[in-house]
Amino acid sequence: MATEPSIKVIIRESTPFEGQKPGTSGLRKKVKVFQQPHYLENFVQSIFDTQEGFEGQTLVLGGDGRFYNREAVQVILKMAAANGFGRVMVGRGGILSTPAASCVIRKYGAFGGIILSASHNPGGPDEDFGIKYNTAAGGPAPEKVTEAIHARTRQITSYRILDCPDVDLDQIGETALGGMVVQVIDPVEDYAELMESLFDFDAIRTLFHDGFRICFDAMHAVTGPYACEILEKRLGAVPGSVINGKPLPDFGQGHPDPNLVHAHDLVAVMNGPAAPDMGAASDGDGDRNMILGRNFYVTPSDSLAVLAANAHLAPGYAEGLKGIARSMPTSQAPDRVAEALGIPCWETPTGWKFFGNLLDAGKATLCGEESFGTGSDHVREKDGLWAVLMWLNVVAARGEAIDEIVRGHWRQYGRNYYSRHDYEGLDTEAAEGVMEHLRNLALKGRRIGSFEVAFNDDFSYTDPVDGAVSKKQGIRVVFTDGSRIVYRLSGTGTAGATLRIYMERYEPDPEKHDQDNQDALAELIAIAKDLAEISRRTGRDTPTVIT
Ligand code: G1P
Ligand code: ZN
Repeated sequence: MATEPSIKVIIRESTPFEGQKPGTSGLRKKVKVFQQPHYLENFVQSIFDTQEGFEGQTLVLGGDGRFYNREAVQVILKMAAANGFGRVMVGRGGILSTPAASCVIRKYGAFGGIILSASHNPGGPDEDFGIKYNTAAGGPAPEKVTEAIHARTRQITSYRILDCPDVDLDQIGETALGGMVVQVIDPVEDYAELMESLFDFDAIRTLFHDGFRICFDAMHAVTGPYACEILEKRLGAVPGSVINGKPLPDFGQGHPDPNLVHAHDLVAVMNGPAAPDMGAASDGDGDRNMILGRNFYVTPSDSLAVLAANAHLAPGYAEGLKGIARSMPTSQAPDRVAEALGIPCWETPTGWKFFGNLLDAGKATLCGEESFGTGSDHVREKDGLWAVLMWLNVVAARGEAIDEIVRGHWRQYGRNYYSRHDYEGLDTEAAEGVMEHLRNLALKGRRIGSFEVAFNDDFSYTDPVDGAVSKKQGIRVVFTDGSRIVYRLSGTGTAGATLRIYMERYEPDPEKHDQDNQDALAELIAIAKDLAEISRRTGRDTPTVIT
């Protein structure tokens, strides 16, 4: 270990910034906001000030490599040392995917971790940056912690930081920083090892050996190195299976969100004449996933349901599932699987942090959100590559194509037609007006077109483990046949407001399983727009993104 000259702790005076309030997943702002003097430092000091007992303990640190990642890592290292951490484990180059960070926190019993990412939001000098604190269990800090951090940001008067040169982040190994050790780790190794312990790598290797082809779109974001190592090197997928595999600070000017709109390179490949057997993509920080078959799109809600029904085929889940958890707006397809398996299906508010307690308490094994998030109790984050490997394991075990597996699932359980319509960049007041208007509607018993309203409410969740109550988590309009419309405002955006409308209709009849999602949902889509008075209140007629 290199020795360091004596290094001074500086206590720098500062004053609070407005709006350092973590949203659905950490604090996200434009890079320019984070670049203001003391902005990042105030937030980091507020994290440390609200935690107890970290002296001499380990902090895990890394990010998705977006613009400002390296600079932020240096600041946080110097602040962690000045605040008394014993060790920081940081991914080489400042890189750690979100699920890999969760894996490392858990594996090494760290005190917690800081993840630098704005997930699927674009990166670059004029785009987004973000910071998130995860606790010792490896998952996003629960609301009471994020609220305490926010409260602290409003009181802060100073922060502690070392006055010293930057640390070399590109060499694996340990260096001293004041009284703290900085340990640069391989960002992929621990994660890859965990994946090998969960899935039948031999069966997947045979699948690839026998000619199965995958196209994985890393979208120039963090999963490139992970996918190359696991899919191509360890599992033998043909070189070139991973596209856009080089992480870039601006994600190649793309929008690293794995959906049908933004993962256009992949969609073109999968709908083309020589399409491979499977397509997949992940987002900026590696926690989201999209799964495609040849000319076939698997909705994230269906993906969760199919994986739950087939999880026993993967060695890590051979003993069965303790339960499934899904976020409220996610379709009810997983509920039907849970019922058939005789296990509970929990319904939580949007955001992965709500799954943490259920996973810790052994009440759920698989979790998922409609927003391309799937995962399990192996870490405390959603996990994009995990979902891809789980699918590969299921395909290898069943010997069927992706679309055959999903169609078979519908035949057995029925199909939940599902779509989400986003209206992005709305005037904040107009968007809040829509929600307020919906909140005040009394719809119970009303007939609307071919539907009858069973009830409508603003979803409130009581955590079954610690009793914490989270109110106002989205407006639900539920119909007597189980169809639903859900409305909520995004908690991750950085400009204006985004209104999300989720629509779901159950179709038990296999003869009717071949419709296009939007067609099958046409009546509900029209009802949803009418009820919310979208055109009049927002001036918009069509959504910005449909998934
Ligand atoms: C969105 C998704 C949500 C996900 C979050 C973080 O949050 O809808 O499911 O957990 O990103 O990836 P929202 O912008 O809707 O608040
Ligand atoms: Zn993400």
